[in-house]
Amino acid sequence: MAQHDSLVYLNGEYLPLNQAKVSVLDRGFLFGDGVYEVIPVYGGRPFRLEEHLRRLDHSLEGIRMVSPLSDGEWAELFGRLIDGPGDQYIYLQVTRGAASKRDHAIPAEIEPTVFAMCSPIAPIPLDGIKAVILDDVRWQWCHIKAITLLANVLLRQDAVDRGAAEAILARDGWVTEGAASNIFIVLDGVLITPPKGNDILPGITRDLVLELARRHGLPAEERRFRVEDLGQASEIWMTSSTREVLPVIELDGAPVGGGEPGPVWKRMQGIYQAYKQSLRAAGPA
Ligand code: PDD
Repeated sequence: MAQHDSLVYLNGEYLPLNQAKVSVLDRGFLFGDGVYEVIPVYGGRPFRLEEHLRRLDHSLEGIRMVSPLSDGEWAELFGRLIDGPGDQYIYLQVTRGAASKRDHAIPAEIEPTVFAMCSPIAPIPLDGIKAVILDDVRWQWCHIKAITLLANVLLRQDAVDRGAAEAILARDGWVTEGAASNIFIVLDGVLITPPKGNDILPGITRDLVLELARRHGLPAEERRFRVEDLGQASEIWMTSSTREVLPVIELDGAPVGGGEPGPVWKRMQGIYQAYKQSLRAAGPA
């Protein structure tokens, strides 16, 4: 978590976190009416910034908004929040803003609320995590990175209550994604992840893993797979900006593959870390 006195950005101002306040009439607070991004920062540089900003544009478009800042303004803002060379992440949130009264319909005149902070990335458990399979009860616009995350929160907590770190979600028996991650399996030596659509978030880490797999000759496919395929998979991975690529070693209490990180994950982990390192070596942005 960012320190209580660390510098954050709110509506054009830089101020300590404990002094950043928004109105109780903010539609983000009242309705969850807003979108967000999580952007990792390595060696002082936002990672895959262009991709994150384009996804932000799409999320905003999906809720009938446009970006309040230009790419250059975002980059400058992030530069002021980034604290040293350690691994960290930028959290940014844009809500519709505060209206004069509570009304579901979108007011004609309203200024967005723009917030950003930078926090250290928690250590990643590279020896693998436990996951459970849960019913994907979320809405049908999961491609929008909306702050309306109650279903994800409850699903993740259900997983935690069962001693697992992540919930792998399935709709009508088809695996969609994790509560806060995308999902890959290795089946008969092929890396498979569900295709993009309204039922999943188009993960930036997901795209990078596919890109790196193709570049390094690992067979990879974007296609739907079923819950039963999880049982047949030799490896299961979850991907996200703050967790990178993590092996799932236990699913619903049963070991995945050999019950430890598999050989394809080890290969991808090497490739992924080398890629990160190559950008670090390029120096600060
Ligand atoms: N979540 N799917 C969901 C539902 C997510 O919330 C996330 C990331 C992902 C992975 O996307 P990316 O690789 O672009 O981080 C997939 C972030 C990290 C969060 O909510 O904190």
